[in-house]
Amino acid sequence: MQIGIPAEIAANETRVAATPETVKKLVAGGNTVLVQSGAGKLSAITDTAFADAGAKIVGTAQDAYNSDIILKVRAPQAEEIGLIKEGATVIASFGVHTNPNLEAYAARKLDCFALEVLPRTTRAQSMDILSSQANIAGYKAVLLATHYYPKFMPMMMTAAGTVKPARVLILGVGVAGLQAIATAKRLGAVVEAFDVRPSTKEQVESLGAKFVEVPMTDEEKKANDGVYAKEMSDDYKRRQGELVDKHAKAADIIITTALIPGRPAPVLVKPETVAGMKPGSVIVDLAVESGGNCPLSRAGEVIQTENGVTLVGSVNLPGMVAQDASALYSRNLLTFLNLMLQKDGSFKINMEDDLVAATRITGEGQVRYSKPN
Ligand code: NAI
Repeated sequence: MQIGIPAEIAANETRVAATPETVKKLVAGGNTVLVQSGAGKLSAITDTAFADAGAKIVGTAQDAYNSDIILKVRAPQAEEIGLIKEGATVIASFGVHTNPNLEAYAARKLDCFALEVLPRTTRAQSMDILSSQANIAGYKAVLLATHYYPKFMPMMMTAAGTVKPARVLILGVGVAGLQAIATAKRLGAVVEAFDVRPSTKEQVESLGAKFVEVPMTDEEKKANDGVYAKEMSDDYKRRQGELVDKHAKAADIIITTALIPGRPAPVLVKPETVAGMKPGSVIVDLAVESGGNCPLSRAGEVIQTENGVTLVGSVNLPGMVAQDASALYSRNLLTFLNLMLQKDGSFKINMEDDLVAATRITGEGQVRYSKPN
């Protein structure tokens, strides 16, 4: 098969959907890989490194898009769709819940696979782009916080006196939250964490952090025993708000990561809570692109409130660790693609495979994706 790797055109996108490592494997499998010149530049991967791995470097996006299979970080934008060979397969992170181009992909007869809707099963773990990238985001969120925080993270005993460790509060303990806990602990902070899913308590404690527990009814516990959180009742939100408010005011750094798939992010840090926080404290809102866990944060901006709290709304944190983010993302894509690349070099979309079927958002000229309730 001919596989194309176009350069990403979205603003602030530094990642690339293949690396020399994945190119080498694809070429060893008998495929031809076309990489657009400069596609790896912002991930510190040179054209020469791609060429040494066996890729053919092409001059334009059109050249790379003229392939049977396209690997991308972001979904093709409206102006890219016309460049793609009719009937091609595209594997990417499509932002499918809000993507306005699904009809256009179907009209181009593209087979689009959105890896962000991959089921969360054991077999899918090695293809899970949400996990591989959220892990990086959690790590980088803590480092970003330290950049804006005007004090040390660890306790320091120096000749000039003792410095207290920072108190870090992590809200939402999925993949990003767990990595944020681990990173903040490594830097010597005192860490507390909270999640609506009761099963996270044990995970938080196993990392040496303290779990902040909102009392829950049996019914609320049962509703949240899955991998994803559910929208909570107003009564729960009130209880949660009071507890978060108390812990937030004692915290120096808050990292928020709470998401509910297909819905706006829950509000966890209210403006009145921010108003009661100490000057110099920092909030990094990883949910900012889904509406934010703090209504005051703004996507792509770093804001300082009147009482001296810094709100970090930076986007695409994995893109700030571009080389490793690309390496992990590309491996996810390769593993997924291998579900369809056959040993004899042919390509088959096997709809009996649950991972293939669940991620195929367009195919046979139709939009196949429907938004979950
Ligand atoms: P996510 O990015 O959808 O959400 C982040 C976290 O926010 C979740 O832990 C969620 O419970 C929490 N949250 C939502 N609403 C909240 C609220 N109101 N208050 C506090 N916290 C709230 O989650 P992510 O990181 O994608 O992981 C979700 C789960 O899936 C995890 O348990 C993870 O271990 C599991 N997982 C399983 C995989 C597999 O088996 N293939 C792969 C990756 C994750």
